Order: sequence, then C-alpha cells, then structure tokens
Amino acid sequence: MPSEVRREREGSPLNPHVTKVVIPVGGLGTRFLPATKAIPKEIFPLIDKPVIQYVVEEAASVGLTDILMVTGRNKRPLEDHFDHNIEIEEALARKGDAAHLDQVCESSDLVTLHYVRQGAPKGLGHALLCAESHVGNEPFAVLLGDDLIDPRDPLLARMIAVQERFGGSVVALMEVDPRDIHLYGCAAVAPTDEADVVRVTGLVEKPGPDEAPSTCAVIGRFVLHPGIFDVIRGTGPGHGGEIQLTDALDDLSRSRAAPVHGVLFSGRRYDTGDRADYVRTIVRLACERDDLGPDFRAWLAAFVSHDFQETR
Ligand code: G1P
Repeated sequence: MPSEVRREREGSPLNPHVTKVVIPVGGLGTRFLPATKAIPKEIFPLIDKPVIQYVVEEAASVGLTDILMVTGRNKRPLEDHFDHNIEIEEALARKGDAAHLDQVCESSDLVTLHYVRQGAPKGLGHALLCAESHVGNEPFAVLLGDDLIDPRDPLLARMIAVQERFGGSVVALMEVDPRDIHLYGCAAVAPTDEADVVRVTGLVEKPGPDEAPSTCAVIGRFVLHPGIFDVIRGTGPGHGGEIQLTDALDDLSRSRAAPVHGVLFSGRRYDTGDRADYVRTIVRLACERDDLGPDFRAWLAAFVSHDFQETR
C-alpha cells in the first residue's frame, strides 16, 4: 500500500475508517446473453485477466483487502478464480514456468474474500442488504463489478477522504451526454468549498427525458454510511420493480445527520457491462500493452484505414 494512502487511513477511533468492500455481482448479465447463460459477465476476459480482478485490484491498491462479494446463481467461476488451482499451479511449477505461476497465484493472494448469495436478483439495494451482517456499523465501500476505473485516475482514495471529511455517504459522479442520462442514477447537486465535491440534494434512478435534474450520472463507486441499511429496508421497489440503492440514497440526501456528497470524476472509466464499451476496453488495453501494443496498433490502424473500408 502506498505510504500516503496508509497515512490517510490511520484515523481516530471516533471516526471509523472504511475497511470493508462490497462487490455486488449477482446480476443476470442480460445484455451479454447468451454468453452469460453459464458464465458470469464479471469473469469475461479483458485479454488475459477477468474484469473482476481489475475491480479487486483497485480495492487492494487503497489498502482495502476485506472484500465481500454478493453473488447469485451461475457465479461459481468467480469463487474459483480467486481460489488456488492446485492442478495448474503444480503443472506450472513442474515446467519451471515462474511467470505464469506468479500470475495464476496473484488473484488468490491479493485479498481476503467472503461470499454471500443474494438468492434472487432484486436490485442493487437488495444486494447490499445481504451484506449487512458482514459490514456491521461502519462506513464501507461498494464497487460495481463491471465498472472499471483506470488506475491512472484514482477515485476511491479521494472518495474515502471525502467521506472522512463530510461523514455520511459519498457517490462518484460523472458528466454524461444528456441523451445517456436515462442509463444511470442521476443526481441533483449543489457546490461545496471543494471544486471536485458536490452536495447531493436528490437522486433519480434512470430518469426519463423530462425527469433528469442534471447530467451528473452516478457511476459504480460508493462509500456508504451504515445507516443505508435501515433506509433500504424501508425502500419499496423502484425502477424496473427492483429495490434501488439510488432511491435509498435519495432519501438519505435529505438527512442532515448522514448527508450524501458526490465526487466529480473526469478520468477514464469503462463500463464493461455494455457490449460496445467492453470491446473498447479490450482495444484500449491491447494498444497500451508493451507486449501486444506495437503489433496490435499497427494492425488496427491498417484495419481501420484499409481492410475495414474495403469490406464494408
Ligand atoms: C447501476 C445503478 C445506477 C448507476 C449504474 C452505474 O445501474 O443502479 O444508479 O448509475 O449502476 O453503472 P445498472 O448499470 O446496474 O443498471
């Protein structure tokens, strides 16, 4: 853990620090059917590493190593990925293939993982209720399992620092095209004395064209006050008939004791739950990699300028 992160994380016992992460991964992955019929979308590879490992690495990079995954049916491959695979490890050790052996063991040694099953996919709010007994009475981080934040644009450490300053809950917000706001939770906001922090005064889940209070979209990182659990319990089904975290946070946004703030994020984010963004993520990663990048970039440039034009 970097020393500045460690320093930020040593605080007073009266202001408990975030130590736990919840990653909800119980969704059906409908947009990727039929591929998600038997395989969770979170295990889809971004070249040679599954999406979920990037999310777990992001938590580990800010020193959060106690992670609870809220899973569902067909999610066993996630548990297998973060467990040791003795057969592969022994075979690689026999061959003396230390590089692959390190990579295979990395995911198992990174963090401490716990699992709870959601039973039925009744929404993000409902998924979080399944985490209540593990989380207890402390603020905690929530990372959506298909949302990737580029490690060069750190967000989570900033959100934790903002939660420590303002208390309550913190959401991550990103400006989106007004035509896309119906895909997100949308926040009504007011400025604070920090340029990248806003007070959230209301939230609407996936608003219609006339309902959106802004173009500030909620993206998949949250630091939540434990009071959210009681609020979720009192939250009825919302958008899509599901128990929405957005609706519970909308309730909390009117609370003085546990307000909701937003960190405005303008860095690189990839929504791997969206098919086009999934492909874009792979292309970008391939272009940036030292081992694949040079050849791949040359091929891509030729493909776009020549092959693609000819085959249209
Ligand atoms: C969820 C949340 C939504 C948020 C989005 C970010 O929606 O309900 O408020 O804007 O994640 O990715 P989902 O994409 O799971 O439908």
